[in-house]
Amino acid sequence: MAPVTSLTASVHQRLADALSAALPETGADADPLLRRSDRADFQANGILALAKKAKANPRELATQVVEKITNGDLLADVEVSGPGFLNVTVTDKAITETLAARAADGDRLGVPLNPAAGTTVIDYAQPNVAKEMHVGHLRSAVIGDALRGMLDFTGEKTIGRHHIGDWGTQFGMLIQYLIENPDTLAPAEDVDGEQAMSNLNKVYKASRAVFDSDEAFKERARKRVVALQSGDKETLDLWQRFVDESKVYFYSVFEKLDMEVRDDEIVGESAYNDLMPETARLLEESGVAVRSEGALVVFFDEIRGKDDQPVPLIVQKADGGFGYAASDLSAIRDRVLDLNATTLLYVVDVRQSLHFKMVFEAARRMGWLNDDVTAHNMGYGTVLGADGKPFKTRAGETVRLEDLLDEAVERATAVVREKAEKIGLTEAEIIENGRYVGIGAVKYADLSTSANRDYKFDLDQMVSLNGDTSVYLQYAYARIKSILRKADAASPAAHPELELAPAERALGLHLDAFGEQLTDATAEYAPHKLAAYLYQLASLYTTFYDQCPVLKADTPSQTENRLFLCDLTARTLTKGMSLLGIRTPERL
Ligand code: ARG
Repeated sequence: MAPVTSLTASVHQRLADALSAALPETGADADPLLRRSDRADFQANGILALAKKAKANPRELATQVVEKITNGDLLADVEVSGPGFLNVTVTDKAITETLAARAADGDRLGVPLNPAAGTTVIDYAQPNVAKEMHVGHLRSAVIGDALRGMLDFTGEKTIGRHHIGDWGTQFGMLIQYLIENPDTLAPAEDVDGEQAMSNLNKVYKASRAVFDSDEAFKERARKRVVALQSGDKETLDLWQRFVDESKVYFYSVFEKLDMEVRDDEIVGESAYNDLMPETARLLEESGVAVRSEGALVVFFDEIRGKDDQPVPLIVQKADGGFGYAASDLSAIRDRVLDLNATTLLYVVDVRQSLHFKMVFEAARRMGWLNDDVTAHNMGYGTVLGADGKPFKTRAGETVRLEDLLDEAVERATAVVREKAEKIGLTEAEIIENGRYVGIGAVKYADLSTSANRDYKFDLDQMVSLNGDTSVYLQYAYARIKSILRKADAASPAAHPELELAPAERALGLHLDAFGEQLTDATAEYAPHKLAAYLYQLASLYTTFYDQCPVLKADTPSQTENRLFLCDLTARTLTKGMSLLGIRTPERL
């Protein structure tokens, strides 16, 4: 039986279905392996494997398939080539009609929901309390937010977890200092993000200085750690002040990043404190973890660290303290058993990949992870400076994230301002666009390279109007919107009876691929593939615009059909960019 093709199926899908139906019975589950191609619109290579299986001559089999293909509306031409490939050209009518069906599908643009969608808990944007955020935290936030947008759109239920670093022995020092110098932190409600961070920094530096020079203070700080761990009320209240103050700062950065972060999803390391003793007990009882020199550890034969030495995962230290691993193992239990996650996704620096490898393996041995519940770390690479070394200020310090974002916005605003007069933007619009372009530039630069690679933070390149940048895409979008405004065309209709010019076909077939490309990029957790799709869309649009007059086309219906292509391109661009967390101003 031929597969059921949904109303908004792409040309690609319809063609794949028609081919599958024409394959011989033995090939019922065979994949025609249909791909876009330079020689025709599509090429199908699947017959080769099928012929091999059936011990048939591939060219003959291919010829039989061609004779059996019946869908006359879809196919303009099929020919057998090479050892048994099929080169397929589709009709102009099929392209336009299919696009029209997608265009009629509102906000979803014909993109199907994933029938196997589950629940993904995504761990991203996890800075550390009382510490400045750095470019690494930026990557986690940007990549995580984009993945979440993509997953949501394909029907996955997503739950965010911002596993902030809000626990550890450093709090003994910080809290003790605050007790002895009570006025150094203003109440969280009285400060903005910048003041909050500057206060925290001062406390951090000052307490560190006393800690390093004063043995008696060091001892008091150590006792404070014990008080914190045993839940002493006064100590916990002061700890909470550090957390609250830090959140004021985090939120200010996320807001600058134009990113929504929900308070109920900020669930830091400390949130798992109550679960940790039980986690340790379960691990020890099952024998997954063993006592070694007083500590509770998990050993792995297959996981080796530096110098090829086996590295154990420390669940509990000999002094009874729990650390990062215990918190992550407890978080897995919580996410799987209480949040019912089917997928755990971590967007964390690739330098922590060994930690996650061990944590995941331990969780698998415990059965918390299994074939139905899987975990992945989208380990991302390092942000490099123009010199190719890890990004630092000239003085060798970590670059402050807000400074970086402010500079991006400043540069972008200058770019926007240059064209502003010509299109009559108000000052308020210039400021707003500058922000969207600047923040978009930073996000896009991050998202357009595959996450595991290092990338250079180069503001000149990021805000350049030419090349693979968000500004280029944003300008493409704004240009289309301006044409649509000029034509006063709210929702231009498609004209499937018209012949298409080569640039129209190329644009049309690329638009056709949106659903599949987005689905693949999402399944592979690869925002850079969506970015690449969008960049190519904008490039194909530019060629179309150069070669095919829109408002001055030959006939009114050709104008309308081209406006239809403009409209669908704009809607696809803005949808794709918004999934990546990037805005597309209407006038730029
Ligand atoms: N706060 C950590 C850091 O800044 C990242 C946390 C990652 N998430 C986790 N579940 N361990 O390095």
